[in-house]
Amino acid sequence: MKILALSGSLRRGSFNTALLRAARQLAPQGVDIEIATLQGVPLYDGDVEAASGVPDVAQRLKQAVRQASGLLIATPEYNGSIPGVLKNGIDWMSRPAAEIANVFGKHPVGIIGATPGRAATRLAQAAWLPVFRQLGLVPFFEQSLYVDGAGEKFDSSGQLTDAKTRELLERYLVSFAGFVTRMDRVAASSPS
Ligand code: FNR
Repeated sequence: MKILALSGSLRRGSFNTALLRAARQLAPQGVDIEIATLQGVPLYDGDVEAASGVPDVAQRLKQAVRQASGLLIATPEYNGSIPGVLKNGIDWMSRPAAEIANVFGKHPVGIIGATPGRAATRLAQAAWLPVFRQLGLVPFFEQSLYVDGAGEKFDSSGQLTDAKTRELLERYLVSFAGFVTRMDRVAASSPS
């Protein structure tokens, strides 16, 4: 099973990207988490789209989402909401709108997040839900993962060292993989 993972941070030392790296290490057997990068995605500009279409970097991300069984997003929280970098990437990936169903439609999506603060990305994770609905993604709600105090839970090389958080992440991934499998079965049995 291939899961495409997107971090909402471009920062080299990003806790959210580090959380996805930990997820890749802790994923259950048979679950391959591929971390895609948003580096190089330009700001959305309708004039650029009209003149030259969707940039290659966003086309590649669209293709990666299309080919994955599910999507796992690690979101920072900025000013109580979603980070612009990831929203901008998703906005490009949603163009042209006629392809949304084919790229995102009925794909399972998991949302997790890390912050050095105490609010644990709850507001950001909730703020993604209307976007998921717009794209036809199916959110995974059986478990949640909110990582607060990230500065104490990752070491200076970005390893997730906090045993409790590792355990929660592992549990989240097992459950999410089960959800993705069930969604795959539903998709395979429904008429196209
Ligand atoms: C933040 N940060 C932040 N944290 C939080 O828990 N709630 C918030 O509302 C905000 N707001 C916010 C706004 C802006 C513009 C910045 C730059 C930062 C702090 C944020 O959680 C922190 O920078 C994280 O380290 C960002 O995630 P990465 O880059 O470590 O993945």
